[in-house]
Amino acid sequence: MEIVILPAPADVARTAADAIEQQVRSGPSVLGLATGSTPLGTYQELIRRHRNGGLSFAGAEAFLLDEYVGLPSTHPQSYHSVIRDEFTANVDFVPDAVHGLDGMAEDLEAEVARYEAAIAAAGGVDIQILGIGTDGHVGFNEPMSSLGSRTRIKTLTRQTREDNARFFGDPSEVPEHVLTQGLGTIREARHLLLLAMGEAKAEAIAAAVEGPVAALCPASALQLHPHVSVLVDEAAASRLAHREYYQDTFGRKPAWQGL
Ligand code: F6R
Repeated sequence: MEIVILPAPADVARTAADAIEQQVRSGPSVLGLATGSTPLGTYQELIRRHRNGGLSFAGAEAFLLDEYVGLPSTHPQSYHSVIRDEFTANVDFVPDAVHGLDGMAEDLEAEVARYEAAIAAAGGVDIQILGIGTDGHVGFNEPMSSLGSRTRIKTLTRQTREDNARFFGDPSEVPEHVLTQGLGTIREARHLLLLAMGEAKAEAIAAAVEGPVAALCPASALQLHPHVSVLVDEAAASRLAHREYYQDTFGRKPAWQGL
């Protein structure tokens, strides 16, 4: 795991966008996209580079991490809508290159199996953007998710429903259930970019990065992955015990290594 502590959220967004740009410019790429507030700055930066710097996503495919159960894809808070409005419709993905889970599928078991097969058929995810929940979830793998879990239905914790209530008119509108890539699925992506900003994420980041690998903190499963970049601002890094070590080693890393 490489922990990169950056001064401000804009630096996190720029650094994440650099890694994604490098991947996309290297050839046909499969991107893993998270929703929520965390990656919005990264998406805005990628849109800016598309408009001003000719960065093209025409050769890329994308897979969403998760989706609410019971929201049609036309609902403004469905992750289909959010990712389209915040990112993919503003760049040049070819139609049908952006894949998501269908939270309205009649047969949810068949839907999650279809999604796993689609990711595999695309050759797997090259670079996966992740946010972290205040309870340590990644995707919607809530505490006690199996570290080997696959895409499946999950029940949101009370804390996550409260955290996400800001996106809905009324807290009771936050769905109880979601479909999410599992921790085992996520860990098959070739490069994981875990992003976190703000004091509210500091405890979860400390548990994920410096705590034991434990189902109680699902993001700690990322410690088992060979290529993880944890990009955090000062506030999200504030509970890390070994901040100076991370800053020192990143500061002395050869520039050609990248993330
Ligand atoms: C969203 C997702 C979630 C969020 C997490 C943090 O696709 O998978 O794990 O990344 O809940 O949400 P924000 O970024 O809104 O704080």
